Amino acid sequence: MKRLLYISTARSILKSTEFDDLLVKSRKANFAADITGLLVVGGRRFLQVLEGPDQNVTATYKRIAADPRHFALVKLHDREITRRAFASWAMGYEQGGVAADTATLEQQIAALVGPIADPTLRAYFTGFVETHLPA
Ligand SMILES: Cc1cc2nc3c(=O)[nH]c(=O)nc-3n(C[C@H](O)[C@H](O)[C@H](O)COP(=O)(O)O)c2cc1C
Repeated sequence: MKRLLYISTARSILKSTEFDDLLVKSRKANFAADITGLLVVGGRRFLQVLEGPDQNVTATYKRIAADPRHFALVKLHDREITRRAFASWAMGYEQGGVAADTATLEQQIAALVGPIADPTLRAYFTGFVETHLPA
């Protein structure tokens, strides 16, 4: 099993109906593939964690990376795990905060996870990222 975390930028902000459709389809596909995770959306940024069987996570990430609705994906974390940290959702959703366009990657991530009310959940993100930011 593995956990993969990435950040990306939307080409344009999705309408709420488009976003709902994306979530419904993602949850269905993830449930079928035994994938759990969380998607944080703040302005044009997406921060997503995917957990599950190695091959399924890899295949899902490949499809997501090829999706024209976003670009500039940066993989922040890709690790073998023995336990899921996001076991409850086929794909949870959290509204994230927005950083200035000039913000560094660290600042973008801090802004995204800032509004997450559950401190354990927030700490998971900052924990994964701190040790795995690309140099
Ligand atoms: C930000 C973002 C997150 C996504 N998350 C998932 C996901 O968790 N699972 C999934 O199956 N598809 C997800 N998708 C959708 C895929 O990119 C893709 O559209 C979908 O899997 C259908 O792929 P297909 O048209 O090649 O069959 C996401 C797309 C975006 C833009």
